[in-house]
Amino acid sequence: MHLLAIESSCDETAAAVLRDGKALSNVVSSQLEHADYGGVIPELASRLHQQNIVRVVNKAIAEAGISQTDLDAIAFTRGPGLLGALLVGVSFAKSFAYGLGIPLIEVNHMEAHVLAHFLMPKTPGFPFLCLTVSGGHTQLVLVRSALELGIIGETIDDAAGEAFDKAAKLLGLPYPGGPHVDKMAQHGNPTAFVFPTPRVDRFAFSFSGLKTALMYQVRDATKVNPHFLEENVADLCASYQAKIVTVLLEKLADAAKEHRIKDIAIAGGVSANSELRQRFQALCDRNGWQAFIPDFAYCTDNAAMIGIAGYHKFLAGKFSDLSAVPFTRS
Ligand code: KG4
Ligand code: ZN
Repeated sequence: MHLLAIESSCDETAAAVLRDGKALSNVVSSQLEHADYGGVIPELASRLHQQNIVRVVNKAIAEAGISQTDLDAIAFTRGPGLLGALLVGVSFAKSFAYGLGIPLIEVNHMEAHVLAHFLMPKTPGFPFLCLTVSGGHTQLVLVRSALELGIIGETIDDAAGEAFDKAAKLLGLPYPGGPHVDKMAQHGNPTAFVFPTPRVDRFAFSFSGLKTALMYQVRDATKVNPHFLEENVADLCASYQAKIVTVLLEKLADAAKEHRIKDIAIAGGVSANSELRQRFQALCDRNGWQAFIPDFAYCTDNAAMIGIAGYHKFLAGKFSDLSAVPFTRS
């Protein structure tokens, strides 16, 4: 069974081909143009998806070594994401499926991040718990099957990735900030600065206070020492990142204990963070839990994850029709 998957929710135009749930190709075209603006410009994203999508899809089909007529279904990201960006992928998927006379399968982008684990050689058993941390979402997800994903906690304000990106901007690091903060933090002291612990209930998260604390820290210290930022950027990154990771892992551990789950996963762009990966593995080892960490290619936005989520829907006979429209929020 050959499935083509298309992802266009934000600033990556991506396509993949899966054969019986295994990725044959996974092409990602990242829109580097947004870096000049320090963030994703929605209209620019839509235009670039429009420009790139045919090339990206053709490349994914060619790299898989198949032809268009070998395809049995098309999966696409219906949401959440930017409306104009999603519209490009949704319209393309619909036209292509209609032209080839094959079924169409809509996929939730956040669920696909979780199900990316089923592209890996070692897969979690059901039920498992997943901490999904991306640029737009922070969720604790209880996964009972590939089709039953329940959110048991999420952020009440900024997402973890957003906290990284906004901090990077404040510290003068390039966009997207997460990987730059990660790299800087490796040369810094994680105890040099103290950040407040967000006070939110049970499995909810909050990161907007952390960003504000960083802003005041830099503003006040720069008044006394104009070179404060350049002298302390590594320590600031290390302390700020350590706080985010601590908050994420504490909630994850509480949820695992309360739900008595022993297969624990992380997913989404922030799961590429080196400190999160290391401390997550150590947490699972200490508690006798099995840790599931996706390969880097399956952490940040990609179409193979849309494909594996679509494959499970295909097996369950869950198809969409040509009236499918994007949704922007989960
Ligand atoms: O999942 P993703 O590619 O897109 C969304 O669905 O949002 O996640 C992107 C987010 C961005 O905020 C980016 O800064 C963050 O993931 N990110 C990282 C790292 N790599 C990507 N954050 C911290 N450390 C990293 N190494
Ligand atoms: Zn994503």
